Amino acid sequence: MGATYFFRDTQTLKVIPCILIPQILEDEGCKNKRSINIWSAGCANGSEPYTLAIILKELLDEEIFSRIQIYATDIDPNNKFENIIKNGSYPEDALQKIPEKMFVNNFIKDTNIQGNYLISERLKGHVKYIRHNLLSLKPIIERPFDVILCKNVLLHFTEKQSTDIINMFYYSLSDSGFFITEQTQKLPVSSCEKFEQSIGSARIYKKIVTNSTGVKIN
Ligand SMILES: C[S@@+](CC[C@H](N)C(=O)[O-])C[C@H]1O[C@@H](n2cnc3c(N)ncnc32)[C@H](O)[C@@H]1O
Repeated sequence: MGATYFFRDTQTLKVIPCILIPQILEDEGCKNKRSINIWSAGCANGSEPYTLAIILKELLDEEIFSRIQIYATDIDPNNKFENIIKNGSYPEDALQKIPEKMFVNNFIKDTNIQGNYLISERLKGHVKYIRHNLLSLKPIIERPFDVILCKNVLLHFTEKQSTDIINMFYYSLSDSGFFITEQTQKLPVSSCEKFEQSIGSARIYKKIVTNSTGVKIN
């Protein structure tokens, strides 16, 4: 199972509701009521997408939160993550880093598995799991994503594979979309013309859109 845990790198995740989503809504015009699509690529057992759902629920206005759809994908070599994420049942030990108030508001005891807690149905409704191999280079949905998170995954790939995956992310993002990776992951050189670093303290990149003569238009 891929190493992951709840409330990992929350500093970066909090940038999504505090800075990125307000910017996306402003770029697209406030009247646009479409869903806000986020992709957690290489989500392992769901700790990352559920942490994000908890943070978004806490920090976003109710109406904006209702429009959030998080797609969580993984190659899942042992075919275990779909059940874990669908059931949303996690051992108490795995939930220790969640701040008390957020834990109480979003989890109840799992009466079927001693020592486990269930994430709320409300949050489960915002996270959809799809088994997917990033190396297939196939986007998972036709609608564009506003934010793609791919943290602690690209380090497993060659530079060429990472570049191809990041290209696929580029074409899966809306024109005002963002790509996020982990602090220690540098963007491959050939991807640098497609994204600009948006937040100095984190690996958060805004998609660059150019016209036919290569002039930046967003
Ligand atoms: C270390 S975990 C990262 C989990 C989470 N993103 C985080 O940062 O906590 C890496 C995950 O990448 C997944 N992975 C590895 N190769 C993949 C591929 N080709 N396509 C999709 N997921 C892949 C693994 O199965 C694993 O769950």
